[in-house]
Amino acid sequence: MAKFIQKYLSFLISIVLYFNFSGHTFCYGSESNYLKNELMNPPNYVGQLAFYIFNVKQFGAKGNGFTDDSKAFQAAFQAACKVRGGVMLVPSGTFLLQPITFYGNNCQRYFTWQVYGLIVAPPNISGWKGISYHYQWILFSGFSKGITIQGNGVVDGRGNAWWGKSRNPPHVKHLENHLISPTSKKTLNNPFIAIRIAKSYKVTVRGIKIQNSPRMHIFLDECQQVTISGLTILAPQESPNTDGIHISHTQHVEIYNSTIGTGDDCIGILTESSDVRIHDVHCGPGHGYSIGGLGLNNQEAHVTNVHVYDSTVAYTLTGVRIKTWPGGSGYVNNITFSHITMTNVKTPIVIDQNYCNGKKGCTWTSKNAVAISGVTFENIIGTYSYQPASLVCSVYKPCTNILMGTINLTPSGRSGSPICQNAYGRVLTNTTPSLKNCLK
Ligand SMILES: *[C@@H]1O[C@H](CO)[C@@H](O)[C@H](O)[C@H]1NC(C)=O
Ligand SMILES: *[C@@H]1O[C@H](CO)[C@@H](O)[C@H](O)[C@H]1NC(C)=O
Ligand SMILES: *[C@@H]1O[C@H](CO)[C@@H](O)[C@H](O)[C@H]1NC(C)=O
Repeated sequence: MAKFIQKYLSFLISIVLYFNFSGHTFCYGSESNYLKNELMNPPNYVGQLAFYIFNVKQFGAKGNGFTDDSKAFQAAFQAACKVRGGVMLVPSGTFLLQPITFYGNNCQRYFTWQVYGLIVAPPNISGWKGISYHYQWILFSGFSKGITIQGNGVVDGRGNAWWGKSRNPPHVKHLENHLISPTSKKTLNNPFIAIRIAKSYKVTVRGIKIQNSPRMHIFLDECQQVTISGLTILAPQESPNTDGIHISHTQHVEIYNSTIGTGDDCIGILTESSDVRIHDVHCGPGHGYSIGGLGLNNQEAHVTNVHVYDSTVAYTLTGVRIKTWPGGSGYVNNITFSHITMTNVKTPIVIDQNYCNGKKGCTWTSKNAVAISGVTFENIIGTYSYQPASLVCSVYKPCTNILMGTINLTPSGRSGSPICQNAYGRVLTNTTPSLKNCLK
């Protein structure tokens, strides 16, 4: 009887919760239902909706391309953030922003940054304020109750002012393995991630275009439940360190229906990240889909449960790759790359446990390595320009449980042979080229 009452009660409670929640959803939109279908057209400001839309122009933004609109953006954000389902609207126009931080700690649920206009960085290096300590250009931090960034607008980091300059800071390479507190004032001659989203939960990024970042385009750290779709990221092939999306200390991520072409990794997955699904993404030019580099400076790293599928890679340095520095520890486990089409990729399939990123004198300096196991390469087809596969694993920590099947890679230029060192596993089908002698 008690059990029955308990069940009955929990049923009643769930009904009450359901109506309560859907009531709010109706009024405010869990992801602003009203805006959900409004990626491409600015919404009409009608009736009850007006009270939660905060247009940066109403807060003094000029949108003329040269006036600093940072203060107006901050004011519009503070207002939008106070309201449940608040929308900070960036209408058409060109808005210049200095490095800016939006702290979401005190925001209500479901904040949305709706971008239809063009947002630009200062036009040259001396035009940037606070470059000695800012780690990024636009930072969203602490949105524990959800954040959506969407629209058909463009965010342009005007990176050509930085590329090729000697300010190619050493820190940038180390960023991969360092978690810098968003509030850190540590001196960093180290710009600039275009958009960084940190310490946030239920993050949605949809539809916008991000281009020409000084360095990385999107950096996600310490986030959970991230959905990125319909995104375009573009920077010239020769621009240095302009990775598309980097994920660090972040779990439960889906990235799909997006196009990324830059001078570095299209997507990089760094330590303490897991449950990452990437599909229907077009990558190139750039360096492909990468896990790592992990284990720099003898650090411990963990990456698990990554699936990249139904995607393409074209005109890149590598296609799908796992890269770890000698001397690190920890593990990479349960990684699947499947149904990936390669076009003229220099080396489509790569595991490199001796990754040194061009650092001098870097060899097997230590018996330690980030252990790599449970990696599946399945249905990888297309063309390569240098060699089809390169699996370079440590003699001390060999790669284990590597599975390869339905691989058909033919040369578009040089006809290289696969390289395989200390890799254990199974080849499940006939492959082109033959990988039979590749895995032990
Ligand atoms: C750099 O940009 C600023 C505007 O932010 C401008 O006032 C200045 O003249 C520019 N300097 C150079 C050297 O182009
Ligand atoms: C994919 O993204 C584009 C924008 O880049 C959008 O127009 C299209 O509707 C999206 N398709 C799906 C199936 O989501
Ligand atoms: C391996 O990762 C996939 C996601 O890519 C996940 O669905 C699956 O449960 C994981 N397997 C194990 C044993 O954790």
